[in-house]
Amino acid sequence: MGRDRPVGVRFLRPNISIAPIGAFYGTVTVMAPESDDPNATRVIAEGHWQQGPPHELFKRLRGTCPVHWSDGVDEYPTEAGYWSVTRADDVHTVSRDWETYSSASGITVVSDAVMPVELISSMFIGMDPPKHDRLKALFQRGFTPKRIAEHEDEIRAIAVGVLQGLADRERCDLVADVAQPVVSRVIGSFMGIAPEDDEPWAVLMNAMVASGDPDLNPEGPEAIMQSQVPLIFERCQALIAARRETPGQDLTSVLVHAEVDGEKLEEHEIVMGFFLLMAAGNDSTKATYTSAMRALMENPDQRDLLLAEPELVPSAVEEALRMFPAFSHFRRTATRDTVLSGVQIRKGDKVALWYPSSNRDETRYKDADRFDVRRNPEHQAFGAGGRHFCLGTALARLELRVLLEETLVHFPAMAIDGGVTHVLSPFANQLKTLPVRL
Ligand code: HEM
Repeated sequence: MGRDRPVGVRFLRPNISIAPIGAFYGTVTVMAPESDDPNATRVIAEGHWQQGPPHELFKRLRGTCPVHWSDGVDEYPTEAGYWSVTRADDVHTVSRDWETYSSASGITVVSDAVMPVELISSMFIGMDPPKHDRLKALFQRGFTPKRIAEHEDEIRAIAVGVLQGLADRERCDLVADVAQPVVSRVIGSFMGIAPEDDEPWAVLMNAMVASGDPDLNPEGPEAIMQSQVPLIFERCQALIAARRETPGQDLTSVLVHAEVDGEKLEEHEIVMGFFLLMAAGNDSTKATYTSAMRALMENPDQRDLLLAEPELVPSAVEEALRMFPAFSHFRRTATRDTVLSGVQIRKGDKVALWYPSSNRDETRYKDADRFDVRRNPEHQAFGAGGRHFCLGTALARLELRVLLEETLVHFPAMAIDGGVTHVLSPFANQLKTLPVRL
């Protein structure tokens, strides 16, 4: 697998701007190497990610080098290299073995360089058991399918309100005009945020999660710790103070009053818990919904199927999650020397789990690149089981179903009308713009 081989690859643009795509995920981009040799490839190189995940590269890796070593990240000479796990079975193995593969040293390929790992580890996504399990359990009660199902009418009313607001328009941008306001209000209502604050929160969260994207974070990645994080703390502290005074039914109140191991959470743990839910709620569903709508517009036969048989929408949701997982990777760190599919992994090595790859693993899916609303597949968009399996699956599925149903009812003939752009990121797998004719 060439871990120790000299790579000897010349990069096309040596002084590329640092683009940590998610501050709390701390991802980074560099240009693609000129070589086609998979052993010489750095998977998160920017050149691979211009149009979203590099599916051809992943196919090659699955076929020839499924547990693959990238030897470093140009912009951060101190950052070590990382393993890329590209097959579904291996992603499954790593996800389930938290004792060998820890989440406590960073959750994306590059973390420390952007945000201190201590901050990331204040969120339960960046913890290992037992603390992880205790904190997660606090929230799980609020996220069961039954509890989430109780919100369907409310979520539908939000989606319908936003779609009806477009009635007089001929065109819109599906990301900015539909997906963003809907997901912001849904997660905002869960967290206890006032509707008028949805937009400033969304701007802040987008800048964080897509911090390397000049449109979403014009101040540049360096500003994350200097301006975004303090702003988030400031806004969040006001909310925390209010909930301390008067607890409500929202998740912020849960965090403020939670006790773990007999102790209340520290202020920064509350803020980061809040941040985790806001980030997950703001970006993920938005990403999969817009990519699903794009696929339906590009495959009119599939859209006709859904229009004729709306009961297929839940299956279409699973297919969209499979093909367009909202997060391209999460990372673990080996706690001991181990072997994965015959490859020696050393204690301390970073291990990236690539969901856009595992979700198109040809040993699991026939014709894996085809968008088939009847497929109703199992997939790893929410992770592959294990302790960190997504907390928000029921909410995400409900939001996606309602959004697809209502969009198809309100605008059955919607068509792409202009340039579709991707957020440039090896972490956040989402469209930046999706202009449509209504
Ligand atoms: C399309 C929608 C979504 C996708 C694709 C998605 C995907 C993921 C993935 C891949 C993980 C990490 C799994 C792992 O490391 O093994 C994760 C974790 C998590 N997700 Fe989601 N997610 C989505 C929606 C949501 C929503 C709506 C929420 C809640 C508001 C949410 C909250 C979380 C939380 C709190 C974690 C951390 C769980 C833990 O560490 O135990 N997610 N999600």
